[in-house]
Amino acid sequence: MCGIIGYTGPKKTLEVLISGLKNLEYRGYDSAGISIIGDNNDIFSFKTKGRIAVLEERLKKMGEISHNRAGIGHTRWATHGIPNEINAHPHKDCTGNIWVVHNGIIENYRILRKRLEAEGHKFISETDTEIISHLIEKYYKNPAVGGLEEAVKLALGEVIGAYGIAVISSFEPDKIVAARFSSPLIIGIGDNEAFVASDVSAVVNHTRKVIYLDDGEVAVILPDKYQIFDLNNNSEKREKQIKEISWEIKEAQKGGFSHFLFKEIYEEPEAITNAIRGRINLEDGTAKLGGLELSEKRFAEIERLVIIACGTAHYAAMVGEYMMEEYAGLPTEVEMGSEFRYRKPVLDKKTAVLAISQSGETADTLMAVREAKRKGAFVFGLVNTVGSTIARECGVGVYNHAGLEVAVPASKSFISQLSILALLTVFLGRQRQMSNTMGTRILKELANLPKLAEQILKQDELIRDLAKKYGAYKNFLYLGRKYNYPIALEGALKLKELAYCIHAEGYPAGEMKHGPIAMIDEDFPSVVIATSDSVYDKMVNAIQEIKARNGKVIAIATEGNEDIKNFTDDVIYIPKTLEMLTPILATIPLHFFACHIGVLNRCDIDKPRNLAKSVVVE
Ligand code: G6P
Repeated sequence: MCGIIGYTGPKKTLEVLISGLKNLEYRGYDSAGISIIGDNNDIFSFKTKGRIAVLEERLKKMGEISHNRAGIGHTRWATHGIPNEINAHPHKDCTGNIWVVHNGIIENYRILRKRLEAEGHKFISETDTEIISHLIEKYYKNPAVGGLEEAVKLALGEVIGAYGIAVISSFEPDKIVAARFSSPLIIGIGDNEAFVASDVSAVVNHTRKVIYLDDGEVAVILPDKYQIFDLNNNSEKREKQIKEISWEIKEAQKGGFSHFLFKEIYEEPEAITNAIRGRINLEDGTAKLGGLELSEKRFAEIERLVIIACGTAHYAAMVGEYMMEEYAGLPTEVEMGSEFRYRKPVLDKKTAVLAISQSGETADTLMAVREAKRKGAFVFGLVNTVGSTIARECGVGVYNHAGLEVAVPASKSFISQLSILALLTVFLGRQRQMSNTMGTRILKELANLPKLAEQILKQDELIRDLAKKYGAYKNFLYLGRKYNYPIALEGALKLKELAYCIHAEGYPAGEMKHGPIAMIDEDFPSVVIATSDSVYDKMVNAIQEIKARNGKVIAIATEGNEDIKNFTDDVIYIPKTLEMLTPILATIPLHFFACHIGVLNRCDIDKPRNLAKSVVVE
């Protein structure tokens, strides 16, 4: 999704902007651009469709760029208008003195554009963003309006929608004005230099000191000082805490792997370790979740749990529902963030709402959190990104500690979410009917899981060979049942995302006979999760039904089950564990399989087309 970087300070602005944009590439984008102020207060701007590498290459051909005052850069993920040079950000006003980068969507842009056009403003792009530059221009040229920040505040007063913006003006060459509403923005504080960015990875090469802006805040940024104001109250200055970033920059590098996604799948066993570290209390047979401790009484009183999430996190939530009901005896429902807000959720004081999000910025999940809070529910979060909006707005919650996840498709964060949901099941279960023995059993098995997950990594090559065998098929069906039904959905989603020329569909195995079976023939292979558990016999039935129609079957089975080889085409084995934890292991080969098929089909698996890492628009 769109990324923002802004810089003011003594370094070469272009270099800082390009390196910042490169670190934002993982978010997914389709075009990019920069604007920088020079010593003569003229503004140099350049934009391209496609990758940052293209932008960089073209800029190199232009020779030395001497513009070194404040500058802004952007990676765009198209919402209004196709990806091309004109629609790429930054966007200027009529005079070319004001330039703006923007993440989010301006909902009333059509009305505003009409009005501004009637007032004589000339628009060149199809974007919603361009209205911001013209609105600022309108207020800025009024002599009664003070500096750029005042014009920005007045302009934003007319805007309805979501925005994280950074603005520069040739009249105030060292200043950047930034503002946020529902779209993340941070300020990086350096030594006589300052940054603005949509996420910390853009600035972490230069500084570890950041300030997270909250909704309704405007920041005025100069190399040696910054000020933060309330958008609605000109004179109210906000004192904000500076946070220290703890993660290492090497986390944002590939570390010898061909792709971030492979690196992150190889980190899946470690993601389990990091999720459970210090959180297992074998003596009491319960989980120790620091972020929930102060609210323990509240958790003991809840009678219903609603989990909200999007994408892959939503599948983790579905697994969580099975865990909670079977082991914690807690009625649980799962809802997509995008649907929750537009239903009429029935929430009461006895309902807790759990928001799961890797990025902590997904707009649909965030809006659902706000809606749940508005309705008086007790809301808590399971979030990977420390300090993110959802984490802050939930207040109460558990961090994944899965480290930075760079590839757009979620991988290790999913494994981490499943692991923590198991811990949460024990935590809530022990507050209810779960015995110490059962709690201890789950926790011991969970503690053993990283070792078992490591063993699956050794099958990378075998899975690559399978990918070669199956990589040319155009359709796949993924089947699972009970705990592994959401894993079938995740396997299919990953294949769709990573090998975007292939269609894959995930289905609950029992439902296959009610529709998808019509599509099965020798050209439509199925990936079937048939581990040795309570639904194994039923999964075998599904396999037999596929085989009877000449369909090919790749089974994910439990080590030791040699028999399954007799009635399937290929088998990937995973070690035996508790049924409720099987999804954690069954996911790993499915992630590998999708990756290899994506690579074989020459797809960009780290940044699949049209996808974004954190989807900050609704
Ligand atoms: C995007 C990503 C997915 C992710 C989903 C939810 O669609 O491409 O990989 O699962 O957002 O993201 P979140 O950060 O809320 O977990």
